[in-house]
Amino acid sequence: MQLLKDKIVQDGKVLSDQVLKVDTFLNHQIDPVLMQAIGEEFATRFKDAGITQIVTIESSGIAPAMMAGLVLGVPVVFARKRKSLTLIDHLYTASVHSFTKNETNEISVSKDFVTSEDTVLLIDDFLANGQAVLGLLDIVEQAGAKLAGVGIVIEKGFQTGGTMIREKGIRVESLAIVSSLENGQVTFAEEDLSK
Ligand code: G4P
Repeated sequence: MQLLKDKIVQDGKVLSDQVLKVDTFLNHQIDPVLMQAIGEEFATRFKDAGITQIVTIESSGIAPAMMAGLVLGVPVVFARKRKSLTLIDHLYTASVHSFTKNETNEISVSKDFVTSEDTVLLIDDFLANGQAVLGLLDIVEQAGAKLAGVGIVIEKGFQTGGTMIREKGIRVESLAIVSSLENGQVTFAEEDLSK
């Protein structure tokens, strides 16, 4: 997605060979116009997949997921990383280990919002080691829902998550695939790697 790649080049900051900071439009401040375009792109790619429910994970997955939900006309539910006061039982839970932060979170989604009747699109902001997606897949499986695929805003193609998820036979659509952050430069992979 060219608009997104241009934004990454223009506003992204390469913090190291491993980490790309995109706080100006995705992870802290959010660019609603770009998010709308991202939602439209996800909706176009998955328009024939019969999606009935979008599932994401707080916090940075929520904005792109909501825009995709708006265009597809389906609800969006986000997995919580912390227990909520009102959300205490009737939950699907899964463990998500973050290699980046070296911590494990138990994520949860109410059983009310993902059911065996659903065809789910998973959306997240970054795909790195794939642990968040694995946790969300676990929840979709527990619910007995059908999985249409995974939509990712930025995939770090030099980390293992994308390969691991695609090797399971799951459709992964990444709007930008970063192949390298070496020498302070963002290099993108060819679009069709995501197909
Ligand atoms: P994984 O889920 O793919 O295994 O990712 P990992 O454990 O490596 O990453 C944990 C958190 O760090 C996730 O956000 C992920 O989106 C984010 N992350 C990973 N690589 C990058 C990067 O290069 N740049 C940025 N900006 N973020 C990265 P999170 O903790 O769930 O945060 P949030 O959704 O609350 O913002």
